[in-house]
Amino acid sequence: METIIKVASLQEMDRFAKTISEHVFPGAIVGLTGELGSGKTTFTKFLAAHLNINDTVTSPTFTILKVYPGKLPLYHMDVYRLEGIGYDYELDDFIYGSGVSVIEWASYIREMLPNEMLEIDISGNFDNERIIRVKGSGVYEKCIQALSH
Ligand SMILES: Nc1ncnc2c1ncn2[C@@H]1O[C@H](COP(=O)(O)OP(=O)(O)O)[C@@H](O)[C@H]1O
Ligand SMILES: [Mg+2]
Repeated sequence: METIIKVASLQEMDRFAKTISEHVFPGAIVGLTGELGSGKTTFTKFLAAHLNINDTVTSPTFTILKVYPGKLPLYHMDVYRLEGIGYDYELDDFIYGSGVSVIEWASYIREMLPNEMLEIDISGNFDNERIIRVKGSGVYEKCIQALSH
């Protein structure tokens, strides 16, 4: 299942993140793709806020993983540095853990991720406008449906 959403501002991106926050659950996996500057980290910050995480979410580019405790813990990963390497098996504890995994540059480790996950691709870098393509099957279909209306 798939849907395409256009957001025209940061505020609309925040609203999009809110809808996602209402559909994540322990063990949910959200894979983000999109060029540098497309808004992957920005989306994650909004999502974290809607998950009542008070810590400041910063890009985990140099650490690969940052863990934010919350009602649902957030595992924020940026696997940019794993391009061509494929995977870091230490990530499994988180990806298959009981928090919400949000993975920037998820396509770099796609083979290591389950088929069933929420895939969010952000494109378009015209001012504050972004085109978001959301894909998911199984337990993620409800989220796609919610986004579609
Ligand atoms: N609608 C929008 N959604 C997300 N980011 C936006 C939007 N409009 C402008 N921006 C800006 O684009 C930049 C995105 O950067 P960032 O989230 O770090 O991208 P990435 O993590 O994909 O490299 C931020 O400076 C953000 O404020
Ligand atoms: Mg980023």
